[in-house]
Amino acid sequence: MPNAPIGYAPRIINPFLFPKTRPNVDDGPSRAGYHGCVIDQLNKLESDAISAIDGCTDAESLEAWRVGYLGSKGKLKGLMPLMRDVPKEQKGQVGKRLNEIKDKLEAALAARAGSDSPTKKPDGPALDITEPGTVASAHVGRRHIISRVIDELTEVFGRMGFVVAEGPELEDDEHNFIKLNIPPEHPARDPIDNFYVDNPDAVSIPRMLRSQTSTVQIRTMERVVAEGSGPPIKIISPGRVYRPDTVDATHSFMFHQIEGLYIDRGVTMIDLKTTLNQFARAYFGQDADIRLRPSFFPFTEPSAELDMMIALKPGDEPKWIELGGCGMVDPNVLKACGIDPEQWTGFAFGFGIERIAMGRYGIPDIRMLFENDVRFLAQL
Ligand code: DAH
Repeated sequence: MPNAPIGYAPRIINPFLFPKTRPNVDDGPSRAGYHGCVIDQLNKLESDAISAIDGCTDAESLEAWRVGYLGSKGKLKGLMPLMRDVPKEQKGQVGKRLNEIKDKLEAALAARAGSDSPTKKPDGPALDITEPGTVASAHVGRRHIISRVIDELTEVFGRMGFVVAEGPELEDDEHNFIKLNIPPEHPARDPIDNFYVDNPDAVSIPRMLRSQTSTVQIRTMERVVAEGSGPPIKIISPGRVYRPDTVDATHSFMFHQIEGLYIDRGVTMIDLKTTLNQFARAYFGQDADIRLRPSFFPFTEPSAELDMMIALKPGDEPKWIELGGCGMVDPNVLKACGIDPEQWTGFAFGFGIERIAMGRYGIPDIRMLFENDVRFLAQL
């Protein structure tokens, strides 16, 4: 034993006692004494382990490293029995080093496992964010009730051959009023009753937030005439409208309407009434009925108020509900859009969507539709 350390205790190196873990004194321990050999062993294990963990490229190799070094049959535990024969005076020193190394290896493992490296094992179930999701949350979002009613109405009218047309919410008074045969002195044009964006006294065609979806009648007629693609025209147009009403349970400064327009050769009131009847039965059930009350709108002649006898909620007693207005398109409106009223006739209707949604779903206050209280929305 040429390099035997001073104080080396021969009985400890008995290979039968510690065949796997005994210090190999032939490797030339750098510390004097048996405890020095043990510390050398520990140091070597530490540097081996640290360089080995750098080579771990995936979760499996990291786990193999953990088992190999820190596991119950791992290399660190394998050195424990050496402690038994460390002289009492040095036991503390060796034990301290052993704990330090254990902590260091555990920290190295934790750093790797917790890093964003490819070896990190995900905590939860595997997640592919590119996959269409299945949502397990109790708080699944849904389409707003107004959007759903719009979809339903679009679907029912779609079955009757109506296609959806759109128009801008920022309009001008030519489309909101003039071409709809609403004269300058008409009370509906009062600036106090509209959201004008331009000063109506200073601009020849002032812009405004549209106060009705009837504007889309004009825009659609103008478009098909310009394109040479119609008439016939058969459109519906759901959308937002704005009026400076004081907000209360039944009024809002913004609400939704759905407009309908059908222009063809020989369209009569019979077509209007049949269409509205079909709609009422398809949407509210076979017991639904409609009634037209004589009324006046500048853009229809004759004009009518549309009521429906409906049980808004299943189990409710059916009653007459006023939904909106309708009538035969005034010849002046057709002419303003370049359509010959001698050749073409048509009907139009428009009604409020909130009224349908509130009635159908038993919503007592229009504000609830726009406050976005999740406790309310989740019930619909
Ligand atoms: N635009 C009207 C309003 O907001 C409703 C209306 C009445 C629309 C008669 C129509 C119609 O298309 O023919 O009060």
